[in-house]
Order: sequence, then structure tokens, then C-alpha cells
Amino acid sequence: MDAPRATAHTCAVSHPQILLLENIHPSARHAYEDAGWPVEAIGRGLGEGELIDALGALEPSLPLVLGIRSKSRVTARVLEAVPQLAVIGAYCIGTDQIDLPAARRQGVAVFNAPFSSTRSVAELVVGEVIMLSRQIFARSQAAHAGRWAKSAEGSHEVRGKTLGLVGYGHIGSQVSVLAEALGMRVQYFDVVSKLPLGNATACASLDELLETSDFVSLHVPDTSGTRQMIGETEIARMKPGAHLLNLSRGQVVDLEALRGAVTDGKLAGAAIDVYPREPAKAGDAFDTPLRGLPSVILTPHIGGSTLEAQANIGREVSSAVTAFLAGGRSTGCVNLPQLDAPPLKQGSRIINIHRNVPGVLSEINRVVAQAAVNIDRQHLATLDEVGMLILDVSVDRDAPAAQDLATAIAGLETSIRTRIQTAESTDARVPQTTVGRVG
Ligand code: NAI
Repeated sequence: MDAPRATAHTCAVSHPQILLLENIHPSARHAYEDAGWPVEAIGRGLGEGELIDALGALEPSLPLVLGIRSKSRVTARVLEAVPQLAVIGAYCIGTDQIDLPAARRQGVAVFNAPFSSTRSVAELVVGEVIMLSRQIFARSQAAHAGRWAKSAEGSHEVRGKTLGLVGYGHIGSQVSVLAEALGMRVQYFDVVSKLPLGNATACASLDELLETSDFVSLHVPDTSGTRQMIGETEIARMKPGAHLLNLSRGQVVDLEALRGAVTDGKLAGAAIDVYPREPAKAGDAFDTPLRGLPSVILTPHIGGSTLEAQANIGREVSSAVTAFLAGGRSTGCVNLPQLDAPPLKQGSRIINIHRNVPGVLSEINRVVAQAAVNIDRQHLATLDEVGMLILDVSVDRDAPAAQDLATAIAGLETSIRTRIQTAESTDARVPQTTVGRVG
């Protein structure tokens, strides 16, 4: 399908409009209000038709920002129906609820919050390592049942024990720092070469890590390379009496194999937060082969579920959205090319999202040359069928030459969205003028 053509027109824009759904943390609203952007909020998720109606009720000449969590679905139909939608903030980690290829074709930027819950997950891992080591779950269950299970049998300090981290990314490396503070020996295995923090050491292979760790904690993404990466064979390699923790993704561990290893005593216990099939919402029924095992801590995918993480998510996504709208910086964008550029100090900045076909840049530069405008800086990046250009020019945004240039670029056959902005130094985060398809 051809990308939608930009309609060349100029309209003065004072600010984008924000619509936040699903009770997104107030920190998100505050970030937009600090930028002087008005915020509407609806406290629940919206279906396709409701979403089109809600977005359609906003001012059609302004670029729109939609903030959602996991319940609202932004389909190709929504994107077609609301062309002024410029940015979607997914105030969560997953972006499956958004048709990302359709958004890319329309030049709609999508941002999420991949890092905001890192600390929350890391703290739970460390807490569970201690709880497993002291058999807290089983002893607490006994106490609740009216039994006094006082014994040192099978209980250990974690100091001096070896923690093996599979995946040394954001979460794995945080766990590494916290665990070392408890006196644990930390080692890790990652498919990418990673700088060890503190005294942590890298293992040459997953097998080496499994064979030498008292606790194995998984912090890998869900990919074809990690699905079922811990099954019967891998568990057999683990030390007798070791513990397994999975707070990453449900497909990574074969839960039947884990159940077998716990019931026959090969492993002393496990802590599991994520499952191959998880209920859709709080309160739904839940089942797993691990139910009923007192040495296994089961939690309902709450690794990142803290109020602090929610507040961080609000700030993280909103600041990425404002950086994109104010300066064209798309760092962290999940569906458009990633571009960074220093703040504009003078002149004006044209931000152009276009179809990634041969000759686009030379065509844009031909238009710039024809307008006799001087280019101060140019940044280009492409991703699949879309490219993004940041073009800083020496003429002031309000000068006819700048307006004409932006209009000419917006009118090119390849352009999807084009806008022109003033120097951020004078007006922190507010796009003033939009040319072509808004946003
Ligand atoms: P990250 O992307 O920062 O780190 C993942 C690391 O795993 C990377 O260093 C990568 O090179 C490594 N890796 C990939 N494949 C591997 C393999 N086959 N073997 C060894 N290492 C491999 O991700 P982050 O933020 O640390 O998250 C880790 C996991 O935690 C993800 O699956 C994420 O979805 C999950 N998560 C779970 C939460 C919960 O509520 N339980 C909350 C937040 C994240």
C-alpha cells in the first residue's frame, strides 16, 4: 500500500493535544502539563470504534498524542481514521496492542517504557533469592496452617553463594549489583559481550553457568533463541539443590521439566513470575503445573508492578514523546528510524518522515537548493520502508522562505509527514508551526 500523501498546507499550531487512557500514572499528565500541553484523560481502555470517536472529537488541526497501556488496541483502521494522530505513547513495555507496521507507514511514532521497571524486577529477584534460601514460602504456609516449622534444616545464608545470571542486560546487571552488596558471587552468561559490573565474571557458556551456580536467574528476552532454553537437559546440568528463578518471559522455561526436577529433589526450589499462558486480567482463573509445590514461589507477573515503576513509566514515555515532538529526536522509538540531534539554537528545523525509496534525499536537497536556503545540519536514518530526516536551516521559521521550503518538501511525492519548528531554546517543547500532514 502506498504511504498517504502529505497535503501541503500551512497552519499555525500552538501545541499538541494529549489524550491519556487507562489510568496512566499522573506523572505522565504532569510532564505534558509542564510543557504547556493540554491533557484529556479517560480512565479505561477504548475499543476501536470508541477510540476513533474519542480522537475524532479533539481539535482536528492539532497533532495528537495518544497514551495507552495494554487494553486499548490501535489498529490500522484507527490510524487511517485519525490522520492527525502523530505519536502513540505505550505506557508499558509491550507494544503488541498497536499495529506497528501500519503506524510506521503513516509516520506515527510509537514510544514505550522498556527500562522503567528494571529496579522493581531486580529487587524482587534478590528478595526471592533470600526467601528461597531460607524456605520462607513453605515455612510461612506452615505457620498460616497452624504448624510451627522451626528448623535450620535446609536453610542457608546467601552470602558466599554463587548467583548465575542468564542475560546481563538492564535487569540482569542491576541484580548483579544488588546481589554483590549481599556478599554473593555473581557470574553471568550473555550472547553479547558485556562489561562485568563490580566483581562479576562472565561464563564462557550457558552450560558452565548452570553447572557452577547455586541460584540461576533468567533475564533474557522472548526470542526464538530463548524459547524453552531451560528444559530437562539444562536442569540436569544444574547443581543438585540449586534454585531456578524466572522473572523474564514465560516461554523460556519448560515448566513440566521444572516440576519434575523439584518433586524429585534435584532442585531445592524455584521462583516463577511469568508463564507460557497468562490470564488476560486480574481476577481470572490461573493454572500451572507448578501449583501446590511449597518450595516454589509463584507470583502473577508482578516483577515490574510497583507504584515507583508506574511513575517512572509515566515520566519515561512522556519525556520521549516531548523530545520527539519538540526536536524530532526519535531515540527509543519502536517503529520509526532512531535519530538524535542537538537542540536547535537558531533558524528552523524541518522534520520530514518519508517513504524510503532511492533518490529521496537528493530530491529534498534539490528543493532546498532551489529555495536558496542554507542547510546548517542534516540527519537521516531509515527503517524498512520509512526514512526520517532532520534538516536545520539558517532561515527563521516565520520567514516566507522557510515556510515555502517546508511546504515544498511536504508536497513531495515521497513525503509522509513534515513539520517545521522554531528554536527550542526560546520555547522549550512546543512545536509552533506544522506544514503538511500534522505532527
Ligand atoms: P535487556 O534487553 O536489557 O537484556 C536482555 C539480555 O539478554 C541482553 O543483554 C541480551 O544480549 C541477552 N540475551 C538475549 N538472548 C540471550 C540468550 N539466548 N542467552 C543469554 N543472553 C541472552 O532486557 P531487560 O530489560 O533486562 O529484560 C529482561 C527480561 O525481563 C525481558 O524478557 C523482559 O520482558 C522481562 N521483564 C519482566 C518483567 C516482569 O514483570 N516480570 C518486567 C520487565 C521486564
